Amino acid sequence: IPTLDDVDFSSKKILVRIDINSPVDPKTGNLLDDSRLKAYNSTIRELVEKGNSVVLISHQGRPGDNDFISLEEHAKILSKYLDTDVEFIEDVMGPYAREKIQNLEKGRVMLLDNVRFVSEELIEASPSQHAKSYLVRRLSPLFDGYVNDAFAASHRSQASLVGFPVVLKSSAGRLMEKEVSALAKIFNPDDYPKVFILGGGKVLDSVRIIENLVKKRLADRILTGGLIAELFAVAKGLDIGKDNIRVLEKLGILSLVPRARKILLMGGPIEIPVDFRVEKEGKVIEEPLNKLTGVIKDIGTTTTGIYSSFIKDAKVIVMRGPMGIIEDERFREGSKTLLVDALESSGYLIIGGGHMISMLGNVTVDSNKVHISTGGGALLLFLAGEKLPALEVLSTSGVK
Ligand code: 3PG
Repeated sequence: IPTLDDVDFSSKKILVRIDINSPVDPKTGNLLDDSRLKAYNSTIRELVEKGNSVVLISHQGRPGDNDFISLEEHAKILSKYLDTDVEFIEDVMGPYAREKIQNLEKGRVMLLDNVRFVSEELIEASPSQHAKSYLVRRLSPLFDGYVNDAFAASHRSQASLVGFPVVLKSSAGRLMEKEVSALAKIFNPDDYPKVFILGGGKVLDSVRIIENLVKKRLADRILTGGLIAELFAVAKGLDIGKDNIRVLEKLGILSLVPRARKILLMGGPIEIPVDFRVEKEGKVIEEPLNKLTGVIKDIGTTTTGIYSSFIKDAKVIVMRGPMGIIEDERFREGSKTLLVDALESSGYLIIGGGHMISMLGNVTVDSNKVHISTGGGALLLFLAGEKLPALEVLSTSGVK
């Protein structure tokens, strides 16, 4: 893929797609983790130092979800980390945003509002289709170039990610470059066992990831937690109790049971918890799988012990998504223990997804042994060998 070394971006106006989508505290509406906001420093600084004016564009959450919010707080945090004022524009592609972009001075940085406020952004379509979107048609004439640094969103074929490289001179940013080269290290077939720990809320993505890992025989063990574990328990014909079934039904997850069954039939090395920490009538108790009466909120102590033993023996460990509802202090234990064990193990550890990264807090890690990726779904799909549309279009569109 072309990098900033392959394009002449100096004294230009550049649109930079970043991914600062972060976990949001459902109670306060504030960001729970700002690690993705720190990650773009090198790209933005380099562009500013070369005399460019920089317009940042990103998404946050999905329509209908609690974390579907404006990017105002993000602009403040970016300003702090970049040590320069990042002006927040409460518009994406309307006349106000376009006028602001037109008048942006050399060396200045601004952040447009949540690109998913524009409904066509969420359509998954080809680069040539997205090149005709209003977003691309309205914004691209205002820019000399486009940089995609949003590794974490590169598995989405959405307008702001794939439409601009069709019409503008484009390159990957420094973060994208760093992610791709750090991750390439794990493809060494001599480094096994490879253990993948998958949890979190994006179940459809996790199923897609597991399908890929299983088909390509890339994982020696896939340890599941959270909703994805419940899905596989149901696919195995196990009883998870009617309250938990109801949760899966409400979230539309039961429709994935046939796909999960197929994965099991392919011989996928999928481990599911043997016990859970549940909430029942306001109390927290542990219950074994098949005798569940409460609502599942975390993996149980026995499961944590079994998963830890797999982690200790692994040469490569990939973690994405928590094992339980970590926003609630009572259900952090499972994810926390596995994270600590993974950090202490001698294997190479890759951590992805905002929630797991938020659990790291201020822990400093050895970058030769641990790669903290800004990617969640994108990271896993990349590791599973899937072609990521936003990367593909950069490599095929060529430098204009
Ligand atoms: C992520 O957090 O995985 C990316 O920001 C993509 O978000 P999405 O799953 O809502 O497309």
